[in-house]
Amino acid sequence: MEKKWLLYGAYGYTGELIAEEAIARGHRPVLAGRSQKKLAPLAAKLGLDMRVFDLRNEMEVAEHIAEFDLVFHAAGPFIHTSLPMVRACLRTQTHYVDITGEVPVFEQNFGFDAEAQAASIAIVSGAGFDVVPSDCLAAYVAQKINNPVRLDIAFATPGGRPSAGTTKSALENLSIGVRARHNGELVHVNPKKTTRKVRFSDCERHVMQISWGDLATAYRTTGIGNIRTFMAVPPQMASRAGGYLRTGRKLLKFGALRWLAKKWVEKSVKGPDAETRATARSYFWARVENDAGRFAEAWLETPEGYYLTALAGVRIVEKLLAGSIAGACTPAVAFGDDFVLELPNVLRFDQLQKNP
Ligand SMILES: NC(=O)c1ccc[n+]([C@@H]2O[C@H](COP(=O)([O-])OP(=O)(O)OC[C@H]3O[C@@H](n4cnc5c(N)ncnc54)[C@H](OP(=O)(O)O)[C@@H]3O)[C@@H](O)[C@H]2O)c1
Repeated sequence: MEKKWLLYGAYGYTGELIAEEAIARGHRPVLAGRSQKKLAPLAAKLGLDMRVFDLRNEMEVAEHIAEFDLVFHAAGPFIHTSLPMVRACLRTQTHYVDITGEVPVFEQNFGFDAEAQAASIAIVSGAGFDVVPSDCLAAYVAQKINNPVRLDIAFATPGGRPSAGTTKSALENLSIGVRARHNGELVHVNPKKTTRKVRFSDCERHVMQISWGDLATAYRTTGIGNIRTFMAVPPQMASRAGGYLRTGRKLLKFGALRWLAKKWVEKSVKGPDAETRATARSYFWARVENDAGRFAEAWLETPEGYYLTALAGVRIVEKLLAGSIAGACTPAVAFGDDFVLELPNVLRFDQLQKNP
């Protein structure tokens, strides 16, 4: 019998891209979300069935998803939406996939590993730009030396623009502050000391430390207990990064200001346009080292982040529906470090030419 999957959050910026990629690859997911008014026009445009329900009651969510083999959860910030959907999926023995990049959500969902194995379902969080490329790259580079104990990961999205949902999720994260993994624990980092330069495959860039999903996923994938994650920023921002982060964090502690910031984001932040999604490139770097002083590096180039999220997400659906993976897995643990190379226009490098 043909397997059925549900795409929740389908009318969000990224949800719609995933729906379009799914159709392009011959799928007919059922579209879902909490607003009939927003969902109906999309379902009509794409010629797909739809279900309208919210996530407030886990038992009701379970009733709505019971007939499906897999739920793709694209409605975030996931700190507010993931738990009821994961619980409903465990109850109904439905695979769960999401595109979170939020460290607390990864940690929460890894906590369901035993229950997911008992229910014979997979829980795969981070099925997009965050964290498929970096997770696969971390797994790849960690195998290059014995006993790696430190891992640094950086990414750059030149010319890229975040969507409203990504910006809202980042605001939630900002109030937590910048973190790193130190001896296996998540620790706060002094924002004054978070900038450096990194050579990517196309050029060198200034980067600043941020709390990226790999602090949770790369730890689970590689077992390396000391991890830092960086994002490329313009040079003028790099020198002021500490100040911005401290001020932002202080302001966002006030609920009313957080609410106002989110309302502004909903109105003003639009995400990359179709041309940018089709042409922009993203760049990743990962470096491991061990206590004997050995180190190894590797680099990735991928398509633009939101397009990559749709590409990776739909392929993860295909792999889960075709296989028998169970448990709460990172993408690289579930599908291997070469999984990212199965996506179109992805390049991996072990060495770079001396002068970019
Ligand atoms: N891993 C990655 O690389 C990656 C890539 C892209 C996006 N993301 C993440 O995916 C999420 C969505 O991003 P987006 O760009 O699609 O944002 P978006 O355009 O703002 O869409 C958000 C979607 O989530 C729904 N939603 C939000 N809160 C909800 C709740 N409490 N209950 C039910 N539905 C809810 C919204 O429905 P309403 O309009 O009804 O509120 C909307 O459908 C964000 O968290 C973003 O960070 C991750």
